[in-house]
Amino acid sequence: MLKTRGLLITLEGIDGCGKSTQAVILQRYLEESGLPHVMVREPGGTAVGEDIRQVLLDNHYSLSLQAELLLYMAARSELTEQVILPALQAGKVVLCDRFTDSTLAYQGYGGGADLGLIRLLNRKATGGISPDLTVLLDLAVEEAAGRRGATADRMESKDFRYHQRVRCGYLEIARWEPQRVSVVDASGEKEKKGRNIWQLVQNLINRRLSMRTTDDF
Ligand code: TMP
Repeated sequence: MLKTRGLLITLEGIDGCGKSTQAVILQRYLEESGLPHVMVREPGGTAVGEDIRQVLLDNHYSLSLQAELLLYMAARSELTEQVILPALQAGKVVLCDRFTDSTLAYQGYGGGADLGLIRLLNRKATGGISPDLTVLLDLAVEEAAGRRGATADRMESKDFRYHQRVRCGYLEIARWEPQRVSVVDASGEKEKKGRNIWQLVQNLINRRLSMRTTDDF
């Protein structure tokens, strides 16, 4: 399937929204359906990207906003070139736990970095690819904080108002791009949410297949 180009699906949301659990559930559905796929996370997914992740999340470091922004972009650039683009070119479904919207929401809306600059850097880091579908798991900051582990990493340690801005930023992105971003209420039961997300993915696949010409086969 999807011979000419794969599909890029991203999962987004504030820390503690249950995004990574949903990534695992969606991966299970993809496995059961026999669709060729890869799952990656950001920052990470390459040797250098995983090392950058350690630095970014390490509580012992205090990073400037610029350094933070550029490190996320460096990890993204590596992941895109080494993993995402080859998988898309091979016609696979790429499931990415966080991608470009995370930088807009966190460093942009949360931290105050210029949104235009982030969009420009995102284009540079990704070669201009954009997700075919983004699932935004939306949850109140108070509830998300209660779900997180006992020890907070460097990003989780940012204050309540920062995370509130991140959540509002995500919702604003969804308002600007409703055709790409589907907002899912993250407060419900996890298997039910998983079924809803799988339905969104199936709709996308069906749309893509119906748009193809016979030349694609
Ligand atoms: P997570 O992968 O466990 O969700 O953790 C990654 C953390 O990094 C999370 O707090 C969100 C943050 N982040 C950014 O601030 N900007 C980004 O561009 C990305 C990809 C993640």
